[in-house]
Amino acid sequence: MTQPLWQKSDTHVDARIMRFLAGNDVVLDREFFLHDITASKAHVEGLANIGIVSSDEQAALLRELDTLAVDFAEGRFVLDDRYEDGHSAIEARLTERLGDAGRRVHTGRSRNDQVLVATRLWLKEKLGTLQALCREVAEVCLARAERESLPMPGYTHIQRAVVSSTGMWFAAFAEAFIDNTLRARQALDLIDANPLGTAAGYGVNIALDRAHTTAALGFARMQVSPIYAQLSRGKFEMAALDAVGTALLDTRRLAWDLSLFTTAEFDFVKLPPEYTTGSSIMPNKRNPDVVELLRASYASVAAARTEIEQLLSLPSGYQRDLQFSKGSLFHGFSMGLGALELLPDMLARLEWKAETMRAAIEPAMYATDVAIEQAAAGVPFRDAYRAAAATAASAGEGRTPESSLAARTSPGAGHGLMLDMLRDRLAAMAD
Ligand code: ARG
Repeated sequence: MTQPLWQKSDTHVDARIMRFLAGNDVVLDREFFLHDITASKAHVEGLANIGIVSSDEQAALLRELDTLAVDFAEGRFVLDDRYEDGHSAIEARLTERLGDAGRRVHTGRSRNDQVLVATRLWLKEKLGTLQALCREVAEVCLARAERESLPMPGYTHIQRAVVSSTGMWFAAFAEAFIDNTLRARQALDLIDANPLGTAAGYGVNIALDRAHTTAALGFARMQVSPIYAQLSRGKFEMAALDAVGTALLDTRRLAWDLSLFTTAEFDFVKLPPEYTTGSSIMPNKRNPDVVELLRASYASVAAARTEIEQLLSLPSGYQRDLQFSKGSLFHGFSMGLGALELLPDMLARLEWKAETMRAAIEPAMYATDVAIEQAAAGVPFRDAYRAAAATAASAGEGRTPESSLAARTSPGAGHGLMLDMLRDRLAAMAD
């Protein structure tokens, strides 16, 4: 490893201790190395604006930072344990190529604000992806609800309850994912603040051009308090994981439904064949493994959030404990977005089995309709309820799933208007 940036002449660096300090930190730093470089460019420009680096040095530093980004992206520069971390690697490379100009680059910055700004830039991108994926899932669900609405049983307690429809099922997840889009956007708003320039957590005694770095990096605002910039670490990662988590909770529900609906006992749904697997021993099997892993993915997101929460039992100021938040964050996002990416195609192509769904609608499932109709005609509801309970078995006489659905106040049932309401809300979510 190159000498740690903080090494002074009297310190002996023990390899075993260094390994413990670093863990796989330098490998994790690969994930946002390009963001670290982007932030370094803005920092260099800011330093040039206040005369700490000359315009020639600025040009050279920006050129070398661009070269480093390209070399990294194309595999010519490997971020590995030759360096303590990605932040040190940037300075080492600039110093190696440019001498004094490289040695000036860390003026007024700390790895503490460097890691914060890289994480926030990375998260802005990921939350943009989350927002787009949630919107795409909502779009597919809404389009399917608009296109077809086949009758199916509606369940409570996994017991047949009332007539429902595939339109209602899809409309539910359309609205859920519109909400999830909003949650992603709210998390993005929270995170869209620039910590660069807060240094180690107490500011510095030069007039850093924070307005420039904020604008150059595309942040909506500046993080004002340097102490809070540090305190917000972990908190903003949790907010981001909450946003992924809320989408994954709905995914888990949806996956649970599909895993039930694809059993022979229900037999309501045929998944696109690519989303099923076989058994190594049982030749007859077609298993919904993808659906099961979609269901499982929430656990990883929730665990990532919990790990960060557990780290935050800390006093003010930077503490090295916070380093562990990176692994959790990256893992949580990779699992969460990886699951969400599969949803639109799978949902667009799953096939409903109209006949088995219709056959599963029993006459007693109209009993609620009967009681409510009586109540609407003036019979006190409790009396109508008792009468309908006594005759539940024949409640279906003269009724069809379509007639039941047509009278329903619910999107995806008889009410195109309500789907229009969802469509308007989704349209308002466009960037
Ligand atoms: N790898 C460190 C982290 O993720 C970077 C900041 C190091 N700062 C320090 N003062 N040791 O937190």
